[in-house]
Amino acid sequence: MSDETLSNLSTETRRFEPPAELAANANVKAEAYDRAEADREAFWAEQAERLDWDQKWDRVLDWDDPPFAKWFVGGRINAAYNCVDRHVEAGKGDKVAIHWVGEPEDDTREITYADLKDQVCQAANALIELGVETGDRVAIYLPMIPETVVAMLACARIGAPHTVVFGGFSADALANRVADCEAKVIITADGGYRRGAPSALKPAVDEAVGKAADLGQKVDKVLVVRRTGQDVAWDEGRDVWWHDSVEKASTEHACEFFDSEHPLYVMYTSGTTGKPKGILHTTGGYLVGTSYTHWAVFDLKADTDVYWCTADVGWVTGHSYMVYGPLSNAVTQVVYEGTPDSPHKGRWWEIIQTYGVTIFYTAPTAIRTFMKWGSDIPAKFDLSSIRVLGSVGEPINPEAYVWYRATIGGDRVPVVDTWWQTETGQIMISPLPGVTAGKPGSAMKALPGIGADVVNDEGEPVPDGSGGFLVLTKPWPAMLRTLWGDDERFKETYWTRFADQGFYFAGDGAKKDEDGDLWLLGRVDDVMNVSGHRLSTTEIESALVSHPKVAEAAVVGAADETTGQAVCAFVILRESAVEEADEPGEGADLVQELRNHVQKEIGAIAKPRQIMIVPELPKTRSGKIMRRLLKDVAEHREVGDVTTLADSTVMDLIKDKEGSGAGSED
Ligand code: WT7
Repeated sequence: MSDETLSNLSTETRRFEPPAELAANANVKAEAYDRAEADREAFWAEQAERLDWDQKWDRVLDWDDPPFAKWFVGGRINAAYNCVDRHVEAGKGDKVAIHWVGEPEDDTREITYADLKDQVCQAANALIELGVETGDRVAIYLPMIPETVVAMLACARIGAPHTVVFGGFSADALANRVADCEAKVIITADGGYRRGAPSALKPAVDEAVGKAADLGQKVDKVLVVRRTGQDVAWDEGRDVWWHDSVEKASTEHACEFFDSEHPLYVMYTSGTTGKPKGILHTTGGYLVGTSYTHWAVFDLKADTDVYWCTADVGWVTGHSYMVYGPLSNAVTQVVYEGTPDSPHKGRWWEIIQTYGVTIFYTAPTAIRTFMKWGSDIPAKFDLSSIRVLGSVGEPINPEAYVWYRATIGGDRVPVVDTWWQTETGQIMISPLPGVTAGKPGSAMKALPGIGADVVNDEGEPVPDGSGGFLVLTKPWPAMLRTLWGDDERFKETYWTRFADQGFYFAGDGAKKDEDGDLWLLGRVDDVMNVSGHRLSTTEIESALVSHPKVAEAAVVGAADETTGQAVCAFVILRESAVEEADEPGEGADLVQELRNHVQKEIGAIAKPRQIMIVPELPKTRSGKIMRRLLKDVAEHREVGDVTTLADSTVMDLIKDKEGSGAGSED
C-alpha cells in the first residue's frame, strides 16, 4: 500500500449497549484495559493463575530473541490435566462436559468430566502401547465425534503434538501434512455422517499413507474408530481398531507435566504460496490465552452456561474454542457432528432449544446462509436461552450482524465479533459483552493485554478515520512460536514487513473509525484500487447485503483500462427475490437497482461496473470466499486452481451464468 489510506466511505451509526444485568455481573469490566496496559506481563501472569501448574514460571515472557517468544518460562503444566482431571478433582466429575449430537436424529451421547477423564487416560495408554512417545507427532483425521476430543487430549496428555486435519481434506492434503510434520501414527474413523449419509474417511487415509511414504514419511500405525460401520480395507500389521485398543486400556494414567513451551499442536493453514504453513502452538501460553479469552469474551459463567461453538475441530476455532479454552474452563458444551440443514434447515435452532444453549459462536458465512433461508425457520424455535452471540472467520457485514442479533438474539443479546487467526491462537480484537457498546460490523478494539494498531506503509499508526495494515504491537501468550520446521518462513511471513517497529504483520487491511474503533477489511490481497481510491471489498459487499433482496455478495477488483481496477460483484439473492429476477427482463432491472444501491450507500466510486446474480459462491472448506477464482471470471480468464474449493462444481454454475448474459455491464 502507498501512503494513501483506505477510503473511509461507509458510516455506521447504530449502537447496541450491553444489557444492564449482563454489564453489572460481567466477568471483565472496563478497568481491565487500563490495568493490563499498566503492566502487561503482570496482567497475563494473573490470568495464568486460572490454570493449575505443577511448577510455576520464573519469568512471564522471554522476548530476548524476537520473534521467538517464550511464555511462562520455567513453568511446568499439562494441558489435558487442566482440561479434565482438575475438574474431576474439584468435585465436578458428574458435570456434563459434552452434549454430543450426531447427525442422525436421536444419536446422542452425554459425556461427563469423569467419563472424559477415563477415556482420555485410556487413549493415552493405548497411544503409548502403539509406540507413541513424548514429542512424537500424531495426525488426527476424524469427524466431529467425541473420540476426536479424546484423541487430542490424549496426545496432549502424553506430550505428543497433534495435527488435526479437517475431514473434508483430500488424501493428498493429509499426506502432505503427515509428511511435513513426520507423523508416525494417524487416528481416523471408518467414516462420518454428512448430509444424512455416511461418508468414508479410511480410504483417504490408506491412500495418504502410501503418498506419505513416497514423501519419505513412514506411518507405523493407524488407529480407527468405528463410527458408520461401513466396510474398510484392513492392513493387519498397521491398522488397529479403537474399540480393541483404547476401550480395553486402563482408565488409570498418571500424567506427566511438561515445560510450558512444550509443543502442543501443529495446525496447517494456507499461505500465499501453495505449501501450507504448519503453525506451531505450545502449551502454557496457549492455554492461558485461550482460557482467559473464552471466559472474558463470552462472559462465561461455567456453572450455568451451555456453550456451543459450531466450528469443525479441524480448524483452529475448534481447537481454541471447542477444546482447550472451554474445557479448561469446565464448561458444559454442545458438539454437533453434521451440517445445519440435516435433516431440516432448523436443526441448529432445534439443538439450541433442546439443550438450552446460552452462548453461541458461529461464522458469518453460516449467518448469511440462514438469512438466505429466511427468518421464519429460526422463529419456529425457542431461542430465549441465548445470552451472548459470537462471530468469527470473516468480517461480519453490518446487516448480517443486525439480523443475527435480532433473529437469533431476540434483539436483546450482545454480538461479539471476534478477530483472530490460526497464528494468534486466541481472540485478539473483540468487544467485551458487558463493557462495549457494539457497532454492527466492527470488531471494536484489542482485548485487555493485547496490542493492535493500524499502520501505513512506513509502519506509522494512521489517525482515526483512516485505514491501513493491521499489526499486533506486543507479543501475546497464545502466539504462534514458529512454522513447523521453517523458522525462516516464519520470520519472513510475519515479522519482516514491519521489522523496524517489531510489529507482527497480520496480512489484513483495517481502518480506525472516528472513535478509534477497528473495522477489519479482509486480507490485504483483497483490497482494490479504483481510480486511485483504495476500496475494500468488504465494505462494498456489506452495502450489497444491506439491500433487502440480497443474501450474500462477493466483490473483486478486475483489471480495467480506465480506472485501473473496476468493482465486479457476484450476488446471491434471498429466496424471495429469486423468482422476480427470473422473469424475463427483470434480472437487468434488479442489477441496476443494486448498482444504484451501492452508489447510494458508499458513493459513485464504489458503484459496481458489473453485477452477476449467481446461485452459489466459491468457498473453501472453512467457508472463505475464494475471490481469486471470481477475479478470473471477471477478467474473462481460464479459472485457476479449484482444488481447495468445498464444492468444485460451483465455478461451473457461475461460468454458466456468465455465458447466459445474466450479468450487466455498461
Ligand atoms: C483470517 C484468519 C480465527 C479463526 C478462524 C479463521 C479473517 C477472522 C475475523 C473477523 C474479520 C476475520 C481475517 C484473518 N478473520 N476473524 N472477526 N473479522 N476478519 O482463522 O483461517 O487463520 O483466518 O480470517 O482475514 O486474518 P484463519
